[in-house]
Amino acid sequence: MKNNPIEGNRYNRAYFDRWYRNPMTRVKSCAGIRRKAALALSVSEYYLERPVRTVLDVGCGEGNWLSALRSLRPRIRYTGVDASNYAVERFGRKRNIHLGSFATLEVIGLADQYDLIICSDTLFYLPIGELEQGLISLAPRTAGVAFLELYTDQDSVIGDFPKKGLRSASWHHKLLRNHGFLSVGSHCYLGPKGQDRAMEMERIGL
Ligand SMILES: C[S@@+](CC[C@H](N)C(=O)[O-])C[C@H]1O[C@@H](n2cnc3c(N)ncnc32)[C@H](O)[C@@H]1O
Repeated sequence: MKNNPIEGNRYNRAYFDRWYRNPMTRVKSCAGIRRKAALALSVSEYYLERPVRTVLDVGCGEGNWLSALRSLRPRIRYTGVDASNYAVERFGRKRNIHLGSFATLEVIGLADQYDLIICSDTLFYLPIGELEQGLISLAPRTAGVAFLELYTDQDSVIGDFPKKGLRSASWHHKLLRNHGFLSVGSHCYLGPKGQDRAMEMERIGL
């Protein structure tokens, strides 16, 4: 863990206390994460036509989606990946979180496919090259949908990431399309293998 090339120590306990727990500074709530989890599960199951069984959560932090997912689908098999030494040391074993980054997804031993892939509040931290590397690894692994939360230069958002670096919606649509993702709305994307499941009017950003 000492050799983690990402700024693994930036995302330390103080970071998670600030953004998730301190009532004066937090921007997240369990209820909000549960609503997102319900959305992502439902959209994935709609296209899969069966319950979601496996979930990959990249940039999962402390794995706070896990309890929301299990409260809705108790038998779900969850795999988390995060660059934070702190999160993996503290929750890795208990929540099945592996140390890694979007650039190392090919070498950390992931499965070939997951019913639901989550990248929540994370993708806009990445340099473009790493974002593209991550999309290349995730597209073929998307069996149901990928919940890829991205913010644009038109969105008003609070957080510790560089807002000046945010791009337009059309830039993001093009990038995702080029890497084989098809938008079906509300941050949900079908991967290359599942695109024939969407009817014409379900497709966004064509
Ligand atoms: C705002 S937190 C989001 C955590 C969780 N996904 C959520 O929805 O609450 C951003 C997370 O991205 C992780 N992260 C930042 N850069 C990363 C990278 N290059 N690869 C993987 N994870 C990264 C951080 O360690 C942190 O846990």
